[in-house]
Amino acid sequence: MAATVSAEDREKVIQACIEAKKYSYSPYSKFAVGAAFLAEDGQLIKGANIENASYGGTICAERTGIVKAVSEGVTRFRALAVVTNVPSSISPCGMCRQVLREFCANDMPIYLVPGDYPRPLKENERHEDGFIEGGVRLTNLGELLPDSFGPEQLELPRRQ
Ligand code: THU
Repeated sequence: MAATVSAEDREKVIQACIEAKKYSYSPYSKFAVGAAFLAEDGQLIKGANIENASYGGTICAERTGIVKAVSEGVTRFRALAVVTNVPSSISPCGMCRQVLREFCANDMPIYLVPGDYPRPLKENERHEDGFIEGGVRLTNLGELLPDSFGPEQLELPRRQ
């Protein structure tokens, strides 16, 4: 079970992802994304999407952040926040979900922050559907990547 994240820590990781978005390099899509991880030890690690003229070389904000963290020895996380420059909250791409699966618990809170954060909830954004204060959608990997393949499967004994 992921430890609960206080409202104060949630606001910190949300503000960090908004800050991270400033450094998005997205001249091709003009779709700026910022991500921030709250590490188990309280550190905040930020990432932005970094595009490339050879489009396939583009790296999403979530993967920039997690690769920065892991390559500095930070491998345990309490929360992730993601924001873009569109008003609605945007959910991580499939490839990022799989990369997150390597290091994040299925129930670790993922805050999908609307580009116009903070704002009141809209009519179709109900608490039952995971929407919380500021128009943020609260989700996790269990929801985003159900029935997933992860490191545990590679610990299983192999048949010859
Ligand atoms: N992007 C992210 O950074 N994260 C996602 O989860 C979705 C997509 C970036 C990649 C590219 O730079 C731009 O958004 C448009 O796809």
